Amino acid sequence: MPFYHKLGEIPHKRHTIFRKSNGELYYEQLFGTIGFDGMSTNMYHVHRPTQVKNILGKKDVAPRVSIKNNIQSYRLHGFKIKPEHDYLDSRKPVLTNSDCTIILAAPKESTASYFYKNADADEMIFIHRGSGKLRSHLGNLDFKYGDYLIIPRGTIYKIDFDTEDNRLFIVESHRPIYTPKRYRNWFGQLLEHAPFCERDIRRPYELETNDEKGSFLMKIKKQNELFDMEYATHPFDVVGYDGFNYPYALSIHDFEPITGRVHQPPPVHQTFETDAFVVCSFVPRLYDYHPQAIPAPYNHSNIDSDEVLYYVDGDFMSRNDIDAGHISLHPAGIPHGPHPGAAERSIGKEKTDELAVMVDTFKPLQLTEEAMAIADDSYYQSWLED
Ligand SMILES: [Fe+2]
Repeated sequence: MPFYHKLGEIPHKRHTIFRKSNGELYYEQLFGTIGFDGMSTNMYHVHRPTQVKNILGKKDVAPRVSIKNNIQSYRLHGFKIKPEHDYLDSRKPVLTNSDCTIILAAPKESTASYFYKNADADEMIFIHRGSGKLRSHLGNLDFKYGDYLIIPRGTIYKIDFDTEDNRLFIVESHRPIYTPKRYRNWFGQLLEHAPFCERDIRRPYELETNDEKGSFLMKIKKQNELFDMEYATHPFDVVGYDGFNYPYALSIHDFEPITGRVHQPPPVHQTFETDAFVVCSFVPRLYDYHPQAIPAPYNHSNIDSDEVLYYVDGDFMSRNDIDAGHISLHPAGIPHGPHPGAAERSIGKEKTDELAVMVDTFKPLQLTEEAMAIADDSYYQSWLED
């Protein structure tokens, strides 16, 4: 995240002597991305963070692709993904390409017995249902309905859920996830016309420092495999850190919509960017106020990006047949637009209460076996007139 954060105790100068009360040194670690060019955090461990005891095994978790080359629009019934006890088992990849994987998950239990690290990808976890606490080696964050959790690659974390009823929409991104550059000034500060600002971004506030030795299971995702690693020290043993690389939360309810006299294009909804896809938030807002305005979107050709809309809540203006938890996939190469009747129905309406998350990928997405199991195969014909 492009602003400075400090938690816990750190020495006055980087790379200098910093001792525990018993006289031993703390163990410094630079935690960064893009070599030494990206955002980084400098942290201090009670124990060496390198103490691997055993590599216990690995499991293939690659998305199982069913449709490789796709030009068909689909609707997926996301809530048909079955709840599962374990957090990692519950994560079902539905759409994937070489830049990102879109996952649906309904975990019932907190991650009690292991720590998790995604070594390949930043994770964006949108909380559709549920609440709890994201715990990491860089501190803890509370989350609830409507939160985006942005977890940089390499973050060691656990999730504590308050109840068994959780629904998550997750994007794993092989490119770093940032706030949109056009909303930031040359220092990185979010500008006045940005739909959210630093005040809306929640940083880790509570650092767990465990001085424990023993056996600690860490599951590390790398190159589509999940490695079980046994560590000799507790992974949450950081006494303090400072820097720019840490997990954070932003609520979709804190996204301030940008509206106009006539229909505003999707970039006004943009919330995050990578160089491989964008994420947009469609939130309750007043409709266009030109007296002749048609609030529903016009047909459009996303000729070079696949468009994924995840419907969260409210009555979505452009379609008649969409419920919470549905995903629509409108692939690159063909136009799409409002459902027959939706444009007429929108005329004269003053506001919408729709809530949705959109992911537009620049490379085509492949559909997995899990996606086809919850797909509505005739959706692509739903624009036909009688
Ligand atoms: Fe669209």
